[in-house]
Amino acid sequence: MEIDIDSIQKKLNKYNQGHLLNFFEELNTLQKKQLLQQLNTLDFDLINNLYSNLKGFSIPSDEVISPLDYYIKEDFSDEEKSELIDIGESILKQNAYAIVTMAGGQGTRLGHKGPKGTFELNLYPEKKSLFEILAIKITEANEKYQINIPWYIMTSEENNADTIAFFDKKNYFGLNKDNIFFFTQNHLPLISFDGNILLSEPYRVQEGSNGNGDIFESLYNNNLIEIMKQKNIKWIFISGIDNILADISDPLFLGLTVNNNTQIGSKTIFKTDAYSKDWVFCRKNGKPSMLGYERITEELTNAKINDKYLYREINILCHIFSINALEKCSKIDLPYHMASKKNIYINDEGMKIFPNKPNSYKFEKFIFDSFKFFDNITLLRVNPEEEFAPIKNPEGVYSPMSATKLYIKQQKNENE
Ligand code: UTP
Repeated sequence: MEIDIDSIQKKLNKYNQGHLLNFFEELNTLQKKQLLQQLNTLDFDLINNLYSNLKGFSIPSDEVISPLDYYIKEDFSDEEKSELIDIGESILKQNAYAIVTMAGGQGTRLGHKGPKGTFELNLYPEKKSLFEILAIKITEANEKYQINIPWYIMTSEENNADTIAFFDKKNYFGLNKDNIFFFTQNHLPLISFDGNILLSEPYRVQEGSNGNGDIFESLYNNNLIEIMKQKNIKWIFISGIDNILADISDPLFLGLTVNNNTQIGSKTIFKTDAYSKDWVFCRKNGKPSMLGYERITEELTNAKINDKYLYREINILCHIFSINALEKCSKIDLPYHMASKKNIYINDEGMKIFPNKPNSYKFEKFIFDSFKFFDNITLLRVNPEEEFAPIKNPEGVYSPMSATKLYIKQQKNENE
């Protein structure tokens, strides 16, 4: 279908985004077509609203904050552990468990070229990619329980083709190819701090995936919830690609979530630095939620009952959802949050700029906004040395080096 440039021009002018056609006359026919097609699909109303609302964001004054109860893994007795593990293992053995890995992020902080899952760690003597580390864990669980866990991988428009090509090249790490499903999440344009949509090329608008909370809608849109139901999947583990210590088939966590009669389980780590910027779990107006660090007062961060801190549980993006919960969430329109990111763009003179600090807004949905649609969720506090080694930054905290150290330590402990 021919796209009418005049109507696009009008639309752009209406939303003050006329600069997107600055280089149009210099483009070749194919590039012109590409750009017009992309501009035609953008939801300018949504982007405009998100940008305008940035300034008007306020906290509801009547919101009541209360604590959300949690369990501590190391506090369970051997007997309790074994009961919970039995429950979890029986679900695993029924082939009623699936894994969803979120690998649609941009990984801007790490700065690796290509999908973050293809990033290789030097695990002496050999190198392993983040995807391979996860694939090995799935293979081990399959062998241990004599099962075949389906693996669903969320990618972005930007990295989907490269992700699939990587799996092909690596022969699916020996896993059954028919049991691995890639699905692409939604995306939104990135916008400069002063409200201009960015161009990544003179003929392309710079878009980014719209947050981990898009997982529900994207699974649904790709018909995967239906496919899970046909496979008789009852429980789904969800985590990011970058935590190389994530225990992707922990029967105790699964057993606890089921035994506690909740539809969602979430692992946490203890917030040791009371004043760090981490958000913590809480209840808002009685419903499970997260409390932003700007709202964590001195009183809340130090609040305790019987030596148990009430607001110190950090979300590590390690969740279990029942299939019903997943389906319910796929029908909820989750809100957008703003993240400041460093994004390459084309300036007014047509030059590609590589910023060295955040220069743009990215709008993202978060999984945790789904929690308030449930009366309760099960929180399980785990030891970060054993279960949390994310790779976010090129060096320092949460870097390849810090994660590799913990990973090697864990492998050593397991082999002893
Ligand atoms: P982060 O929020 O840490 O983002 O994602 P990121 O993209 O990896 O890195 P930065 O912030 O740009 O440096 C946590 C997990 O959620 C996934 C990521 O792939 C990672 O596994 N994610 C994030 C998505 O799948 N989609 C998104 O839109 C955002």
